[in-house]
Order: sequence, then structure tokens, then C-alpha cells
Amino acid sequence: MNNIRHLLEPQDFSVKELGSLLELADSIVNAPEKYAEKCKGKILASLFYEPSTRTKFSFDAAMLRLGGQVIGFSDPNTSSTAKGETVADSAKTVSQYADIIVVRHPKEGTARLMSKHADCPVINAGDGGHQHPTQTLTDLLTIMHYKKRLTDLTIGVCGDLMFGRTIHSLVSCLSRFSNVKFVFISPDELKMPTYIKDSLNKLGISYYETDNLEHAIPDLDILYMSRVQRERFINEEEYMRLKDFFILTRDKLDTAKKDMIVMHPLPRVNEIATDVDDDPRAVYFNQVKFGMYVRMALILSLLRLDERSVLS
Ligand code: CP
Repeated sequence: MNNIRHLLEPQDFSVKELGSLLELADSIVNAPEKYAEKCKGKILASLFYEPSTRTKFSFDAAMLRLGGQVIGFSDPNTSSTAKGETVADSAKTVSQYADIIVVRHPKEGTARLMSKHADCPVINAGDGGHQHPTQTLTDLLTIMHYKKRLTDLTIGVCGDLMFGRTIHSLVSCLSRFSNVKFVFISPDELKMPTYIKDSLNKLGISYYETDNLEHAIPDLDILYMSRVQRERFINEEEYMRLKDFFILTRDKLDTAKKDMIVMHPLPRVNEIATDVDDDPRAVYFNQVKFGMYVRMALILSLLRLDERSVLS
């Protein structure tokens, strides 16, 4: 394939390309049966070097619902990784069999490395504590569904802002839309990385940092909760000390706007009490389903199988 496009971080797509992708995803939501044969004869390779429920199954389901097929592993020890094969060689090899590769890896930058060696599009399904661009596509489709816009929003992101790759991708992406303001809600030890704050400062984007969730809630259009990323901690005691720093309970929503939405990339550990699930503002399980539809749109776009795609 000439001019192969990858998705390694949200900035790989222009705002216009993101718009067309979301429009395509919306069309799929409304009439999925029209897309049931679009990937007939195509194969997606799903290479998961780290655990996953949503990302892996939503990509698998997306390809199957498009009429394609899926190969891959969710335990790298069943592959030649266990014999010492490099990810570069694995990418080159797998791209001889598959039309598109989805990779999750604990090491930051692995998807980018694979994209340099693969002969097909590579999608980053999460690289260490760095980026998770398809979660961001999921989040954008969810926000469009509930708020009808990606501009003029005040978004509180709460939890582990240091290691939360979904949050890094979302904040970087939304910083390109007008009049989006951020509230970074975290314990001191898990604050947003400086490189992200620097880029917001350069763009003149408004944000403030706090460790007080209750204080922040009344102003928010979106509250984006996240878990403390246990797997990124070197010190287990530190994780145990911080893991329950924020717990969103139903009573804390009393001061929230009536149309605020609560999002979460999931998995949830303890940071949202289960009695919040019944609140109409809690949209995190619907968010999961949008993830499958937007990944269907992404596969079609990267494989250039839909005329709506404007990927150059
Ligand atoms: N949101 C997300 O990435 O979930 P998984 O780790 O289950 O894929």
C-alpha cells in the first residue's frame, strides 16, 4: 500500500480528518448493517503485550462486524517474543500476513517503532504511560453524542494524571479545539506531566491544578475519572497510599450541573462508587460501545475502504 497512514498519537490526524472520522463513526452507529461486508477478505492482527478487555475486544469486534478476520495474541509468551524476537522483526513479519496491525505494549514508543518496520497501517492501542489515541477517538465520539460539540467545554480530568495515557491523549487532542478549558484534579504525586502543561501554555489554553474534587465539580461540563495505574508504580506502598485518593460517590454529584457527564476509560477499580452507575450523567458504559463503532470507522479509514475518509 502506498502512503501508509498510522495512528500513533491523536495529533497524527488533523482536526478535519478527526471530524470526518467521527462523521463516519456516527453513520456506522446509525446503520451498522451497511458496513457488514466492507472488510471482507481483510485481516487485522491484534498484538497485545499488555492486558486489555475493552481495547482488544472492541478492535476484534469492530473487524468482525466489518466482515473481516482477526489474528494475534494477548499473551506475548505464546509468540516468538519469548524466543527473543524484536518488536521490529515481529512487525515486519506480521505485516506480511495482515492488512492492519493493532499493538499494545508496556514500553513507550513501541507502536511508533513498529510503524517504521511494518508494511501496513499500525494503530497504537496504548504504549506504556504515554498515549492511547483510540481511547481518545472513543472519548470524542462520546462527547459529540452527549454534548453535540467538541468546543466550549470545561473538562475536569481526575485521578492519575501522571501515568494515565488516556488522559494524555485526550488533553493533547482537545487542546486543538476552541475554548476548551481543563481542570487537572490529582494528588500532588500524580500531577499532569510537565511536557503536556508546557504545550498547553504555548497554545494559551486555560487550565488549573487542584487536589479538591468537590471544589471543582460545579463548574464542569465533563468529569473524566481515571484509575491510579498500579502497573506503572515502582513502589507498591505508594500505590496503596494513593489508590483511593478520589472516590466519586453519588452525593458528590449533587453540586454538579444537571447535564454534566461522567466519563471513564475503564477499567474502574474503586474511584467511582457503583451507585453512581444509575445516575443518568454516568455515561462510561455507553462510552465502551462508542469505542467499537469509532474503531470500525478507524479501520475503514486507514484501509481506505470508505469514500467518506479524507485521510491523505
Ligand atoms: N480503556 C482501556 O484501554 O481499557 P482496556 O485496558 O481494558 O483495554
